[in-house]
Amino acid sequence: MGKRYTNPEKTTAAQKVIRRIGLWCFVFLLLFTAAYGANNRIEVSEYVCQSGDLSYSFDGFRIVHLSDLHSKTFIQDNAGIMRKIREQNPDIIVMTGDMIDCSNHTDIPASEKFIRQASEIAPVYYVFGNHENLIDKSEIEPFKAAVRECGAILLENERVQISSRTGQTISLIGMDDSSLQANLLGKLAEESGDDFQILLAHEPQYFEENYVSAGVDLVLCGHAHGGQFRIPFTHKGIWAPDQGFFPEKTEGCLRDSATGAEMIISRGLGNSAFPFRAFNHPEIVCVTLRVSG
Ligand SMILES: [Fe+2]
Repeated sequence: MGKRYTNPEKTTAAQKVIRRIGLWCFVFLLLFTAAYGANNRIEVSEYVCQSGDLSYSFDGFRIVHLSDLHSKTFIQDNAGIMRKIREQNPDIIVMTGDMIDCSNHTDIPASEKFIRQASEIAPVYYVFGNHENLIDKSEIEPFKAAVRECGAILLENERVQISSRTGQTISLIGMDDSSLQANLLGKLAEESGDDFQILLAHEPQYFEENYVSAGVDLVLCGHAHGGQFRIPFTHKGIWAPDQGFFPEKTEGCLRDSATGAEMIISRGLGNSAFPFRAFNHPEIVCVTLRVSG
């Protein structure tokens, strides 16, 4: 047998290439895991809303607030997210729009299924966002019928009263996204009288101008997707529709100092045309009402 000779320079070069490929694979895997986690690991955010205008029978009333599903289906056919919603023990569930996506992944049956599953946990109140209003007319009417058929209450510029066991009430006002700038809201708020008023609306940027001036007590909304990409440790997002770069209203609770009105913004559950978010987990918001004073 003849001797085998190796070129040490060649061996070192091959090892370098293998090491580089390994490193890139590791980085890719890390990014993929982070992106998957950021888009599928659901966070529950708890808020307490205190008011002297609430009647005692609503002390401890729990609202699960969901927004911006964008036709997403979570793993195991939504089993995990429905379990998380159930664990909050909600009195009602509210959905503040864009549960359907109208871009590159419209899936109306997936949205219907999600709403049906949530309706089995607690009464669902739903308002349309900008995406529902972009769906073809031939599809939206059957969708509305399906929403109502599964027991959810679609609020199209309407007010409903929720009664406690002792007969006291709060008012829930649901505005369609296309009517947020109209003066309909003021009229509905006026009709609510002395009730504690909760507004369901899709877009947060009208807080001071429209919602506070109408006189509502608490606003629940979404639309901003938490700013899509969030800068770690800052609670700041990069971009939101209708607010542009470095938007101010993308998550959390804002308070109007003059009136005490509050607005809680959900970061939402899904994504629209741009398919992923970063450092910005899908969010279930849970609000507990408390009587103060
Ligand atoms: Fe949205």
